Amino acid sequence: MKGGDFLPLPESFMQDLKLKSDIVDVVASYVNLKHKGRNLVGLCPFHGEKTPSFYLYPENGSFFCFGCGSGGDVITFIRKIENLDYIEAVKFLAQRAGMHMPENSYDEGMGRLRGKIYEANREAARYFHKQLYSLNGKNALTYFHNRGLTDRTIKHFGLGYSLDSRFSLTNHLREKGFTDNEIIQANLGFKSKNGATIDRFFNRVMFPIIDLRGNVIAFGGRIMSDEKPKYLNTSDTLVFKKSTNLFALNMAKNSGKRQLILAEGYMDVIALHQAGFTNAVATLGTALTPQQATLMKRYADEVVISYDSDEAGKKAASRGISLLRNAGVLIKVLTIPDAKDPDEFIKSHKDSGPARFKQLIEASGNDIDYRLQCIKLQHDLTQSEGKVAYLSEAAKLLATLYNSIEQEIYAGKLSDEIGVQKETIMAQVHRLAKRSKAERETKDFRAMQTELSARNDKINPQKANNLRCARAEEALIAYLMNNPDMALMAVNQLPCEKMITDFNKRVYKAVTDRELSGHSAQLIDISEGFSPDEISKIAGIISKYSTDLSTADVAQEYINVILAENDKISVEQAVTATNEDITKYLNNLKKNKQ
Ligand code: GTP
Ligand code: MN
Repeated sequence: MKGGDFLPLPESFMQDLKLKSDIVDVVASYVNLKHKGRNLVGLCPFHGEKTPSFYLYPENGSFFCFGCGSGGDVITFIRKIENLDYIEAVKFLAQRAGMHMPENSYDEGMGRLRGKIYEANREAARYFHKQLYSLNGKNALTYFHNRGLTDRTIKHFGLGYSLDSRFSLTNHLREKGFTDNEIIQANLGFKSKNGATIDRFFNRVMFPIIDLRGNVIAFGGRIMSDEKPKYLNTSDTLVFKKSTNLFALNMAKNSGKRQLILAEGYMDVIALHQAGFTNAVATLGTALTPQQATLMKRYADEVVISYDSDEAGKKAASRGISLLRNAGVLIKVLTIPDAKDPDEFIKSHKDSGPARFKQLIEASGNDIDYRLQCIKLQHDLTQSEGKVAYLSEAAKLLATLYNSIEQEIYAGKLSDEIGVQKETIMAQVHRLAKRSKAERETKDFRAMQTELSARNDKINPQKANNLRCARAEEALIAYLMNNPDMALMAVNQLPCEKMITDFNKRVYKAVTDRELSGHSAQLIDISEGFSPDEISKIAGIISKYSTDLSTADVAQEYINVILAENDKISVEQAVTATNEDITKYLNNLKKNKQ
């Protein structure tokens, strides 16, 4: 979000907020940090990783991840991790610091629309719930009751019913003062072919999706017959991204355990909560994403994967396992007997359902047990060829484990099971592990490089063609952020318009404008005018030069490089250059060499 969307916040407020929002304190409540020289490092919360590449620089109030390239100041950190826009992140930090937001700072534009979408969703949830208990909702209520839900559970989850009409919610929201645009932006309605706004959900039982702060952000709607599509979900909106949210995490995070149960469907989660497993969550109609895995890691040390026991469920489980392993949580994989999902399992055992499910959790093995079991089922262990094939596949799996104790344990189990010496199995595992580590490292490194260079290109596409000059620009920007009293010297010699690449020009202008008006220009002071990706790029620049103790002489060199590039360009352009121009150019070159 750019500056124009809200009135600028007063300088004194921002200074105060900055003082009271120490980046180390703020980040430490999300990331386990360790000191490394003057800086701190930890596992990046924005992508899954096992070795820390997330760096925090207390001196200039910034962070940067060398793995995924995200970076920024404390406000950007909150924007990213809490999924907020700029002004909401400021509000979040102000609340944390016990400060009041200045009046009128939240008026126009996107922020206002987001607010309206939240309100429309809340109103819609209320409306759907009310309809469920109206005469028209009788069938829907019976549907829920028949599926074993109590009224208490229905209220707890705020379940509802969308009437069999194309206009009922739209009309209701209009009466409440919402515009058609707001209804459509919330994805509660859409424009029909003849231009009328009509309801997106009709004649479905409704499941509101609520974020961690208690806002209704989306809905899932289930048809009550066998027609397709079975579920209809809100598409992504300004306030909802299905890949970064989890159904019922708002409740599950308060379960008091550092364990989550991951199920496939809304109904599974609701049945589990009703049975006392209040730590159950589900994805929102898609496969698990890395962001969701990272999100779960914030609330859990252990995740119990409890998917349907059909083929699709097994596939989803194995995908989930690798994402969750990367996120660094312990994993258990639950196998439900008789091809059922958790909802059906609990219901089929009537009163003993909850106790039986608890037993299932306790009896469930971790992900390695589960995967070894899957491999075992593919081979005939009564034949020696089958045994060899099983062992070789199993060794491949063990070779992917980072933890050598784990490898020993499973090699031991295999040895007992098959009757081959543990040492023989371990030798095979080590051989494979060496190879796969080398392969992994090359792959990780390549992926990191591609990702970083792609991101850089996107933010500063001119850099590729002006490498030397863009580097000088970046070094100069980093130098000026650390040496505010040099801004006047810099601008006198190198006015903003002489910066070669447009992106660096904007950053240079933002930094020197602040400094010339007597303010500090750390990342947090200028971040308001840049998008999160742009801020990541600036944080990357700061990070790159964080140990660089440039002197004024070196800064002068940077300026000279940029000025020389300007001269080169003007000569290239001036096919009709006068003698005077050329003399000036040559003199400049001479001067810059001295
Ligand atoms: P029930 O049949 O009501 O028990 O559904 P369930 O909650 O057990 O869901 P199921 O296992 O069939 O599917 C798992 C999840 O995938 C659901 O909760 C939905 O989020 C999603 N899903 C299922 N069918 C559809 C569909 O037709 N479209 C979309 N977008 N998502 C679906
Ligand atoms: Mn089901």
